Amino acid sequence: MKEKILVTGGTGYIGSHTVVELQNSGYEVIIIDNLSNSSADVVDNIEKVSGIRPVFEKLDCLDYTGLDALFSKYKGIKAIIHFAASKAVGESVEKPLLYYRNNIVSLINLLELMSKHGVNGIVFSSSCTVYGEPDQLPVTEQAPIKPATSPYGNTKQINEEIIRDTITSGVPIDAILLRYFNPIGAHPSTLLGELPNGVPQNLIPYLTQTAIGIREKLSVFGEDYNTPDGSCIRDFINVVDLAKAHVIAIDRILNGKQKAKVETFNIGTGRGLSVLELISIFEKATGVKLNYQIVGRRVGDIEKVWANPDYANSELGWKAETSIEDTLLSAWKWQLKLRERGIQ
Ligand code: WQD
Repeated sequence: MKEKILVTGGTGYIGSHTVVELQNSGYEVIIIDNLSNSSADVVDNIEKVSGIRPVFEKLDCLDYTGLDALFSKYKGIKAIIHFAASKAVGESVEKPLLYYRNNIVSLINLLELMSKHGVNGIVFSSSCTVYGEPDQLPVTEQAPIKPATSPYGNTKQINEEIIRDTITSGVPIDAILLRYFNPIGAHPSTLLGELPNGVPQNLIPYLTQTAIGIREKLSVFGEDYNTPDGSCIRDFINVVDLAKAHVIAIDRILNGKQKAKVETFNIGTGRGLSVLELISIFEKATGVKLNYQIVGRRVGDIEKVWANPDYANSELGWKAETSIEDTLLSAWKWQLKLRERGIQ
Protein backbone atom coordinates (compact mmCIF):
# COMPACT_ATOMS: atom_id res chain seq x y z
CA MET A 1 0.00 0.00 0.00
CA LYS A 2 1.31 3.42 -0.98
CA GLU A 3 0.78 6.70 0.89
CA LYS A 4 -2.40 7.93 2.54
CA ILE A 5 -4.31 10.52 0.53
CA LEU A 6 -7.19 12.59 1.87
CA VAL A 7 -9.90 13.25 -0.71
CA THR A 8 -12.37 15.97 0.25
CA GLY A 9 -15.63 15.69 -1.65
CA GLY A 10 -14.70 12.08 -2.38
CA THR A 11 -18.28 10.85 -2.76
CA GLY A 12 -19.02 13.50 -5.39
CA TYR A 13 -18.95 13.12 -9.15
CA ILE A 14 -15.28 13.75 -9.94
CA GLY A 15 -14.14 12.79 -6.43
CA SER A 16 -15.58 9.27 -6.56
CA HIS A 17 -13.95 8.51 -9.93
CA THR A 18 -10.66 9.83 -8.60
CA VAL A 19 -10.83 7.69 -5.46
CA VAL A 20 -11.11 4.58 -7.65
CA GLU A 21 -8.10 5.60 -9.75
CA LEU A 22 -6.05 6.34 -6.63
CA GLN A 23 -6.92 2.93 -5.22
CA ASN A 24 -6.08 1.27 -8.56
CA SER A 25 -2.66 2.88 -8.26
CA GLY A 26 -2.18 1.52 -4.75
CA TYR A 27 -2.92 4.61 -2.68
CA GLU A 28 -4.78 4.37 0.61
CA VAL A 29 -7.71 6.77 0.48
CA ILE A 30 -9.54 8.61 3.22
CA ILE A 31 -12.69 10.33 2.01
CA ILE A 32 -14.41 13.18 3.76
CA ASP A 33 -17.66 14.60 2.45
CA ASN A 34 -20.56 16.44 4.07
CA LEU A 35 -22.96 14.58 1.72
CA SER A 36 -24.66 17.86 0.79
CA ASN A 37 -24.66 16.83 -2.87
CA SER A 38 -23.92 13.10 -2.75
CA SER A 39 -24.80 10.02 -0.78
CA ALA A 40 -22.94 7.54 1.41
CA ASP A 41 -23.96 4.70 -1.00
CA VAL A 42 -21.25 5.96 -3.30
CA VAL A 43 -18.71 4.44 -0.89
CA ASP A 44 -20.29 1.00 -1.52
CA ASN A 45 -20.05 1.53 -5.26
CA ILE A 46 -16.44 2.64 -5.04
CA GLU A 47 -15.73 -0.60 -3.21
CA LYS A 48 -17.57 -2.60 -5.90
CA VAL A 49 -15.47 -1.00 -8.63
CA SER A 50 -12.03 -1.09 -7.00
CA GLY A 51 -12.45 -4.01 -4.62
CA ILE A 52 -11.24 -1.83 -1.76
CA ARG A 53 -13.41 0.03 0.72
CA PRO A 54 -12.03 3.51 1.31
CA VAL A 55 -12.25 5.04 4.77
CA PHE A 56 -15.19 7.43 4.83
CA GLU A 57 -15.95 10.10 7.40
CA LYS A 58 -18.92 12.42 7.08
CA LEU A 59 -17.32 15.76 7.71
CA ASP A 60 -17.70 19.31 6.49
CA CYS A 61 -14.52 21.16 5.60
CA LEU A 62 -15.95 24.19 7.41
CA ASP A 63 -15.63 22.21 10.66
CA TYR A 64 -12.12 23.19 11.76
CA THR A 65 -12.21 21.18 14.99
CA GLY A 66 -13.52 18.11 13.20
CA LEU A 67 -10.84 18.39 10.53
CA ASP A 68 -8.15 18.84 13.17
CA ALA A 69 -9.35 15.65 14.89
CA LEU A 70 -9.42 13.83 11.54
CA PHE A 71 -5.75 14.59 10.84
CA SER A 72 -4.89 13.36 14.36
CA LYS A 73 -6.95 10.20 13.90
CA TYR A 74 -5.49 9.27 10.49
CA LYS A 75 -1.87 10.12 11.09
CA GLY A 76 0.49 10.18 8.15
CA ILE A 77 -1.72 11.70 5.45
CA LYS A 78 0.75 12.72 2.74
CA ALA A 79 -1.39 14.84 0.47
CA ILE A 80 -4.88 16.15 -0.12
CA ILE A 81 -7.04 16.34 -3.20
CA HIS A 82 -9.53 19.08 -2.51
CA PHE A 83 -12.78 18.68 -4.46
CA ALA A 84 -15.30 19.62 -1.79
CA ALA A 85 -17.04 22.78 -2.96
CA SER A 86 -20.36 24.20 -4.01
CA LYS A 87 -20.44 24.28 -7.80
CA ALA A 88 -23.71 25.58 -9.23
CA VAL A 89 -23.07 28.79 -11.12
CA GLY A 90 -26.67 30.06 -10.93
CA GLU A 91 -27.06 29.28 -7.24
CA SER A 92 -23.83 31.12 -6.53
CA VAL A 93 -25.35 34.30 -7.98
CA GLU A 94 -28.34 33.95 -5.67
CA LYS A 95 -26.38 32.92 -2.59
CA PRO A 96 -22.91 34.46 -2.92
CA LEU A 97 -22.05 34.33 0.78
CA LEU A 98 -22.84 30.63 0.93
CA TYR A 99 -20.37 30.09 -1.91
CA TYR A 100 -17.68 32.34 -0.48
CA ARG A 101 -17.98 30.69 2.93
CA ASN A 102 -18.13 27.10 1.70
CA ASN A 103 -15.47 27.30 -0.94
CA ILE A 104 -13.00 29.71 0.62
CA VAL A 105 -13.18 28.94 4.34
CA SER A 106 -12.86 25.21 3.58
CA LEU A 107 -9.59 25.77 1.77
CA ILE A 108 -8.24 28.07 4.49
CA ASN A 109 -9.06 25.45 7.13
CA LEU A 110 -7.26 22.77 5.15
CA LEU A 111 -4.17 24.87 4.48
CA GLU A 112 -3.87 25.85 8.16
CA LEU A 113 -4.24 22.27 9.30
CA MET A 114 -1.84 20.96 6.66
CA SER A 115 0.91 23.01 8.26
CA LYS A 116 -0.06 21.90 11.74
CA HIS A 117 -0.13 18.20 10.80
CA GLY A 118 2.79 18.12 8.39
CA VAL A 119 0.79 17.45 5.22
CA ASN A 120 2.83 18.89 2.37
CA GLY A 121 0.91 18.39 -0.85
CA ILE A 122 -2.38 19.55 -2.28
CA VAL A 123 -4.08 19.08 -5.63
CA PHE A 124 -6.77 21.68 -6.16
CA SER A 125 -9.86 21.31 -8.30
CA SER A 126 -9.86 24.46 -10.41
CA SER A 127 -11.69 25.32 -13.59
CA CYS A 128 -11.31 26.80 -17.04
CA THR A 129 -13.83 29.33 -15.78
CA VAL A 130 -10.79 31.35 -14.60
CA TYR A 131 -10.06 32.23 -18.27
CA GLY A 132 -13.52 33.73 -18.85
CA GLU A 133 -13.95 34.36 -22.59
CA PRO A 134 -10.38 33.75 -23.77
CA ASP A 135 -8.75 36.11 -26.31
CA GLN A 136 -6.87 33.24 -27.94
CA LEU A 137 -7.87 29.66 -28.59
CA PRO A 138 -6.98 27.05 -27.68
CA VAL A 139 -6.36 28.52 -24.27
CA THR A 140 -3.00 27.92 -22.54
CA GLU A 141 -2.15 28.16 -18.85
CA GLN A 142 -0.50 31.51 -19.59
CA ALA A 143 -3.75 33.12 -20.74
CA PRO A 144 -4.77 36.03 -18.53
CA ILE A 145 -7.22 35.43 -15.73
CA LYS A 146 -10.42 37.34 -16.57
CA PRO A 147 -12.82 38.90 -14.06
CA ALA A 148 -15.13 36.15 -12.87
CA THR A 149 -18.70 36.17 -14.15
CA SER A 150 -20.15 34.46 -11.06
CA PRO A 151 -19.34 34.10 -7.36
CA TYR A 152 -18.65 30.41 -8.06
CA GLY A 153 -16.02 31.33 -10.67
CA ASN A 154 -14.61 33.93 -8.34
CA THR A 155 -14.10 31.34 -5.59
CA LYS A 156 -11.95 29.30 -7.98
CA GLN A 157 -9.80 32.35 -8.79
CA ILE A 158 -9.53 33.41 -5.15
CA ASN A 159 -8.65 29.89 -4.04
CA GLU A 160 -5.87 29.67 -6.62
CA GLU A 161 -4.51 32.94 -5.19
CA ILE A 162 -4.85 31.76 -1.60
CA ILE A 163 -2.78 28.68 -2.43
CA ARG A 164 -0.12 30.76 -4.22
CA ASP A 165 0.12 33.35 -1.44
CA THR A 166 0.33 30.67 1.26
CA ILE A 167 3.15 28.89 -0.53
CA THR A 168 4.96 32.14 -1.34
CA SER A 169 4.96 32.94 2.39
CA GLY A 170 7.28 29.97 2.89
CA VAL A 171 4.85 27.36 4.16
CA PRO A 172 6.26 23.94 3.10
CA ILE A 173 3.42 22.95 0.78
CA ASP A 174 3.56 21.89 -2.86
CA ALA A 175 0.46 22.41 -4.96
CA ILE A 176 -0.92 21.46 -8.34
CA LEU A 177 -3.87 23.40 -9.68
CA LEU A 178 -5.84 21.42 -12.23
CA ARG A 179 -8.04 23.57 -14.42
CA TYR A 180 -10.78 21.29 -15.70
CA PHE A 181 -12.70 22.05 -18.85
CA ASN A 182 -16.18 20.41 -19.07
CA PRO A 183 -16.11 17.03 -17.29
CA ILE A 184 -18.73 14.58 -18.58
CA GLY A 185 -19.49 10.87 -18.75
CA ALA A 186 -19.56 8.12 -16.18
CA HIS A 187 -17.56 5.13 -15.04
CA PRO A 188 -17.71 2.24 -17.58
CA SER A 189 -18.93 -0.05 -14.77
CA THR A 190 -22.07 2.18 -14.55
CA LEU A 191 -21.57 2.15 -10.79
CA LEU A 192 -20.35 5.76 -10.59
CA GLY A 193 -21.53 8.87 -12.36
CA GLU A 194 -23.09 12.27 -11.93
CA LEU A 195 -26.20 12.53 -9.79
CA PRO A 196 -27.56 16.03 -10.23
CA ASN A 197 -29.86 17.43 -7.58
CA GLY A 198 -33.20 18.49 -9.02
CA VAL A 199 -33.35 20.01 -12.49
CA PRO A 200 -29.87 19.74 -14.03
CA GLN A 201 -28.18 22.99 -15.01
CA ASN A 202 -25.38 21.35 -17.00
CA LEU A 203 -25.75 20.13 -20.54
CA ILE A 204 -25.10 16.39 -20.32
CA PRO A 205 -27.35 15.47 -17.39
CA TYR A 206 -30.13 17.54 -18.96
CA LEU A 207 -29.52 15.86 -22.29
CA THR A 208 -29.57 12.30 -20.93
CA GLN A 209 -32.63 13.04 -18.78
CA THR A 210 -34.38 14.31 -21.91
CA ALA A 211 -33.31 11.27 -23.92
CA ILE A 212 -34.82 8.97 -21.29
CA GLY A 213 -38.02 10.98 -21.01
CA ILE A 214 -37.63 12.67 -17.61
CA ARG A 215 -37.48 16.07 -19.33
CA GLU A 216 -39.60 16.89 -22.34
CA LYS A 217 -36.96 18.66 -24.40
CA LEU A 218 -33.49 20.04 -24.17
CA SER A 219 -33.17 23.76 -24.75
CA VAL A 220 -30.07 24.64 -26.72
CA PHE A 221 -29.05 28.07 -25.52
CA GLY A 222 -28.21 30.30 -28.48
CA GLU A 223 -27.78 29.92 -32.23
CA ASP A 224 -26.18 33.24 -33.05
CA TYR A 225 -22.74 32.82 -31.52
CA ASN A 226 -19.69 33.44 -33.63
CA THR A 227 -19.09 29.70 -34.18
CA PRO A 228 -19.54 27.54 -37.28
CA ASP A 229 -23.06 26.38 -36.33
CA GLY A 230 -23.96 29.28 -34.02
CA SER A 231 -24.03 27.23 -30.79
CA CYS A 232 -21.41 27.49 -28.01
CA ILE A 233 -18.21 25.45 -28.11
CA ARG A 234 -16.73 23.57 -25.15
CA ASP A 235 -13.99 21.04 -24.44
CA PHE A 236 -15.74 17.98 -23.04
CA ILE A 237 -13.37 15.86 -20.97
CA ASN A 238 -14.13 12.29 -19.89
CA VAL A 239 -14.42 12.02 -16.10
CA VAL A 240 -12.23 8.90 -15.85
CA ASP A 241 -9.50 10.55 -17.92
CA LEU A 242 -9.83 13.57 -15.64
CA ALA A 243 -9.61 11.36 -12.53
CA LYS A 244 -6.36 9.87 -13.84
CA ALA A 245 -4.81 13.33 -14.07
CA HIS A 246 -5.21 13.62 -10.29
CA VAL A 247 -3.27 10.43 -9.65
CA ILE A 248 -0.44 11.69 -11.84
CA ALA A 249 -0.48 15.00 -9.99
CA ILE A 250 -0.27 13.23 -6.63
CA ASP A 251 2.60 11.00 -7.88
CA ARG A 252 4.38 14.11 -9.10
CA ILE A 253 4.10 15.91 -5.77
CA LEU A 254 5.06 12.91 -3.64
CA ASN A 255 8.02 12.03 -5.88
CA GLY A 256 9.33 15.59 -5.83
CA LYS A 257 9.01 15.96 -9.61
CA GLN A 258 7.56 19.46 -9.62
CA LYS A 259 9.27 22.28 -11.45
CA ALA A 260 7.74 24.88 -9.13
CA LYS A 261 6.00 24.76 -5.77
CA VAL A 262 2.74 25.70 -7.45
CA GLU A 263 2.03 24.29 -10.89
CA THR A 264 -1.02 24.79 -13.07
CA PHE A 265 -2.30 22.47 -15.78
CA ASN A 266 -5.16 22.57 -18.25
CA ILE A 267 -7.07 19.31 -18.16
CA GLY A 268 -8.96 19.10 -21.41
CA THR A 269 -8.91 17.23 -24.71
CA GLY A 270 -7.77 20.08 -26.95
CA ARG A 271 -10.87 19.59 -29.10
CA GLY A 272 -13.70 22.09 -29.14
CA LEU A 273 -17.17 20.70 -29.88
CA SER A 274 -20.31 22.75 -30.31
CA VAL A 275 -23.47 21.94 -28.40
CA LEU A 276 -25.18 20.95 -31.67
CA GLU A 277 -22.25 18.74 -32.70
CA LEU A 278 -22.40 17.06 -29.33
CA ILE A 279 -26.12 16.34 -29.72
CA SER A 280 -25.52 14.80 -33.12
CA ILE A 281 -22.67 12.63 -31.81
CA PHE A 282 -24.88 11.52 -28.91
CA GLU A 283 -27.67 10.53 -31.31
CA LYS A 284 -25.31 8.54 -33.52
CA ALA A 285 -23.47 6.86 -30.65
CA THR A 286 -26.60 5.81 -28.77
CA GLY A 287 -29.15 5.49 -31.56
CA VAL A 288 -31.50 7.64 -29.48
CA LYS A 289 -33.23 10.61 -31.09
CA LEU A 290 -33.11 13.66 -28.91
CA ASN A 291 -35.94 16.12 -28.59
CA TYR A 292 -34.38 19.57 -28.55
CA GLN A 293 -35.20 23.12 -29.42
CA ILE A 294 -32.98 26.09 -30.02
CA VAL A 295 -33.83 28.97 -27.71
CA GLY A 296 -32.21 32.27 -26.73
CA ARG A 297 -28.80 32.64 -25.14
CA ARG A 298 -28.26 31.83 -21.47
CA VAL A 299 -26.97 34.83 -19.53
CA GLY A 300 -23.34 34.54 -18.56
CA ASP A 301 -22.36 31.83 -21.09
CA ILE A 302 -18.92 31.92 -22.65
CA GLU A 303 -19.09 31.71 -26.45
CA LYS A 304 -16.23 29.28 -27.01
CA VAL A 305 -13.48 27.77 -24.95
CA TRP A 306 -11.25 24.77 -25.41
CA ALA A 307 -7.93 23.75 -23.97
CA ASN A 308 -4.43 23.68 -25.20
CA PRO A 309 -3.45 20.62 -23.13
CA ASP A 310 0.15 20.46 -24.47
CA TYR A 311 1.72 21.30 -21.13
CA ALA A 312 -0.24 18.59 -19.30
CA ASN A 313 0.52 16.15 -22.15
CA SER A 314 4.25 16.72 -22.15
CA GLU A 315 4.94 17.54 -18.52
CA LEU A 316 2.53 15.15 -16.79
CA GLY A 317 2.56 12.51 -19.50
CA TRP A 318 -1.23 12.69 -19.28
CA LYS A 319 -3.57 12.73 -22.23
CA ALA A 320 -7.33 12.49 -22.64
CA GLU A 321 -7.83 9.05 -24.17
CA THR A 322 -11.51 8.24 -24.29
CA SER A 323 -13.40 9.12 -27.46
CA ILE A 324 -16.33 11.48 -27.26
CA GLU A 325 -18.57 8.67 -28.57
CA ASP A 326 -17.58 6.33 -25.73
CA THR A 327 -17.90 9.16 -23.23
CA LEU A 328 -21.44 10.02 -24.34
CA LEU A 329 -22.34 6.35 -24.41
CA SER A 330 -21.13 6.03 -20.81
CA ALA A 331 -23.31 8.99 -19.79
CA TRP A 332 -26.28 7.33 -21.47
CA LYS A 333 -25.63 3.93 -19.86
CA TRP A 334 -25.40 5.68 -16.49
CA GLN A 335 -28.78 7.32 -17.08
CA LEU A 336 -30.29 3.93 -17.97
CA LYS A 337 -28.74 2.43 -14.85
CA LEU A 338 -30.22 5.17 -12.68
CA ARG A 339 -33.67 4.27 -13.99
CA GLU A 340 -32.99 0.61 -13.26
CA ARG A 341 -32.04 1.56 -9.72
CA GLY A 342 -35.24 3.62 -9.48
CA ILE A 343 -33.32 6.80 -8.78
CA GLN A 344 -34.34 8.96 -11.72
C1 WQD B 1 -22.29 23.76 -21.64
C2 WQD B 1 -22.91 24.32 -22.89
C3 WQD B 1 -24.63 25.94 -22.49
C4 WQD B 1 -27.52 23.34 -20.60
C5 WQD B 1 -20.21 25.26 -16.16
C6 WQD B 1 -19.34 26.05 -15.23
C7 WQD B 1 -17.96 25.47 -15.21
C8 WQD B 1 -17.99 24.03 -14.87
C9 WQD B 1 -19.00 23.25 -15.59
C10 WQD B 1 -18.32 23.12 -12.63
C11 WQD B 1 -23.15 25.83 -22.81
C12 WQD B 1 -25.18 24.73 -23.16
C13 WQD B 1 -26.39 23.82 -21.22
C14 WQD B 1 -28.72 23.24 -21.35
C15 WQD B 1 -27.56 24.13 -23.27
N1 WQD B 1 -17.83 23.87 -13.52
N2 WQD B 1 -26.41 24.22 -22.52
N3 WQD B 1 -28.68 23.65 -22.66
O1 WQD B 1 -21.54 26.55 -18.59
O2 WQD B 1 -19.71 25.43 -19.93
O3 WQD B 1 -19.66 25.33 -17.48
O4 WQD B 1 -20.24 23.93 -15.69
O5 WQD B 1 -18.85 22.60 -11.96
O6 WQD B 1 -17.18 26.19 -14.33
O7 WQD B 1 -19.29 27.39 -15.67
O8 WQD B 1 -21.34 24.00 -18.68
O9 WQD B 1 -22.85 22.12 -19.06
O10 WQD B 1 -23.80 24.28 -18.14
O11 WQD B 1 -23.04 24.20 -20.52
O12 WQD B 1 -27.60 24.49 -24.44
O13 WQD B 1 -29.77 22.85 -20.86
O14 WQD B 1 -24.21 23.75 -23.06
O15 WQD B 1 -25.22 27.11 -22.98
O16 WQD B 1 -22.90 26.37 -24.07
P1 WQD B 1 -20.59 25.45 -18.74
P2 WQD B 1 -22.81 23.59 -19.03
